[in-house]
Amino acid sequence: MCGIVGYAGPQRASELLFAGLRTLEYRGYDSAGVATAAANGSISIQKRAGKLDNLQMALPLLPTDAIAGIAHTRWATHGEASDANAHPHSDESGGIALVHNGIIENFSELKRELEAAGHHFSSTTDTEVLVHLIESAYQGDLRAAIFAVLPRLRGQWAIAVMHKDEPGRIVAARKEAPLVIGIGDGEQFVASDPIAIAAHTRRIVFLRDGEVADLTKSGAQLFAADGSEVPLRIEEVTTSASTNEKGEYTHFMQKEMAEQPQSLRAAMLGRVTDGTVRIEELDAISANIAGIRSIEFVACGSAYNASLAAAALAERLFGIPARSSVASEFRYDPPALGPTTLVIAISQSGETADTLGAVRAARNASAPVIAIVNSEGSTLTRSADAVVLLRAGVEVSVAATKSFTSQALTALLIVLDLARRAGHLSASDAAGWSKELLEIPEMASSALTASEGMRAIAARFYGSEGFMFTSRGEGFATALEGALKLKELSYLHAEGIPAGEMKHGPISLLGPKHPVVAVVLNSHTLQKLVSNLMEARARLSPVIAVVSGVDEAGEFADETIMIPAARPEIAALIASIPLQRFAYEMALCAGASVDQPKNLAKSVTVE
Ligand code: F6R
Repeated sequence: MCGIVGYAGPQRASELLFAGLRTLEYRGYDSAGVATAAANGSISIQKRAGKLDNLQMALPLLPTDAIAGIAHTRWATHGEASDANAHPHSDESGGIALVHNGIIENFSELKRELEAAGHHFSSTTDTEVLVHLIESAYQGDLRAAIFAVLPRLRGQWAIAVMHKDEPGRIVAARKEAPLVIGIGDGEQFVASDPIAIAAHTRRIVFLRDGEVADLTKSGAQLFAADGSEVPLRIEEVTTSASTNEKGEYTHFMQKEMAEQPQSLRAAMLGRVTDGTVRIEELDAISANIAGIRSIEFVACGSAYNASLAAAALAERLFGIPARSSVASEFRYDPPALGPTTLVIAISQSGETADTLGAVRAARNASAPVIAIVNSEGSTLTRSADAVVLLRAGVEVSVAATKSFTSQALTALLIVLDLARRAGHLSASDAAGWSKELLEIPEMASSALTASEGMRAIAARFYGSEGFMFTSRGEGFATALEGALKLKELSYLHAEGIPAGEMKHGPISLLGPKHPVVAVVLNSHTLQKLVSNLMEARARLSPVIAVVSGVDEAGEFADETIMIPAARPEIAALIASIPLQRFAYEMALCAGASVDQPKNLAKSVTVE
């Protein structure tokens, strides 16, 4: 993960870079640092472990007359979160400053070689080998040194580097980690995400794998992996630097949960109309649809959970194999892939390394790829045959909430449209779906209101030993998501178990201090699920149930949150809203950092 921003120009670099880091904090918040270069070449570095506020106190120690600078916010991979391991890194003479996002996989062997040659390391990061390699290769031209070093590296990187002998110059390079350059007037920028520089320029070049950019205040040049210069592919982006304000809310998560009626409506706008579902963006793959023989969803974390109900629906409607895979497994051990396999990748950030890896595997096998993405302009949007945007708006809180429900909804919409186009969904079935889909924003509003009850439930059960989330069918994906939310936000142990599986082992955990959180939907397996909940209660486990379309929930649950009745695919999506609130309330009970849980980052750009 990690976020990078760099600047060459007349503005006060340290402040501009720090403001950029604020917008990149979603990429990691274990430590942060800034390096600035003065006109005489001298490099000054300030870096601190912990969140950006720690670095802010050190900013006045940096010179105010810098002509360039680079900055970094870290999500620790190699080496603990400490001042020494914070970026920028430097060589022994202090002549180089370097920031890195990614992992240098062969760093151990490179480090051994460098130490044998007399280099001394001051951190335990993988990144520091880059500084020493560049120092060894440097012969008066930073770009040439970087080109000499890159072939020696295995792994992923986005780097930005300065050298004291070339004041005002920044050289940047990328492989499998996002990096853009921003073109200004008498000033140039580099960043992990256009959002970090959007306050200054909207003229962006998205670097491709292997490319190297060379910046000074007066201009930017781009070079392909073979060293040849390539034209700048300048795009105007609309990204806004205003990463939202919390407004009346205490936490971004609270705000983002509350936005779900609007974000769900936005996902359907122009796509669910006139009694049918039609997503214009899918026209790009319409020629492939008739030939599809299998469907593979790929995603990670919450996005994976969001794919499960859509995959089950696809299999039912198309009558062909359809499934979801965790992208980190799929990318290295893919199923049989080819032009008749439709791959649907889901990602809020569009930068998740594993999801991008899975998409590369699919494309290498000539499989058509649809991407469901929130972040416009992200790498995934440039890697797919068709891109369907979530339109959920910026999600700041690390825990996915509105993006999760929009992903689950958009995946359903895509399956319905593909099935309609392929002749597997009749006009009357499409009309039935459309009618109910359009009720989703209203259902989300009433689920938000019902979620208020979670405050008292959380207070009652905080202090439990662990939580077992359960359901059957479509509700199971929601149970998995509920468990994930609780774990990541409150640091309590929770797992999602299909209700029928509890008796095969997990039931031995149950008892008065181990509540079961159930997603109870009105589906064909309802009675089976109720029996499983009775089994849990017989072991004295309290049952907390989010219930849709079922009366007399008091017979199988100790605490109930009622949500609107709907078909299981839709009810499952709505049921995730009270579970988000449950996790939020538990996080408050735990005194945890709601928007930035420990050890996490919003954009997971490492494997
Ligand atoms: C959990 C969460 C993560 C992400 C996962 C994939 O709340 O946010 O599990 O869902 O890291 O991220 P994206 O959707 O950006 O690919």
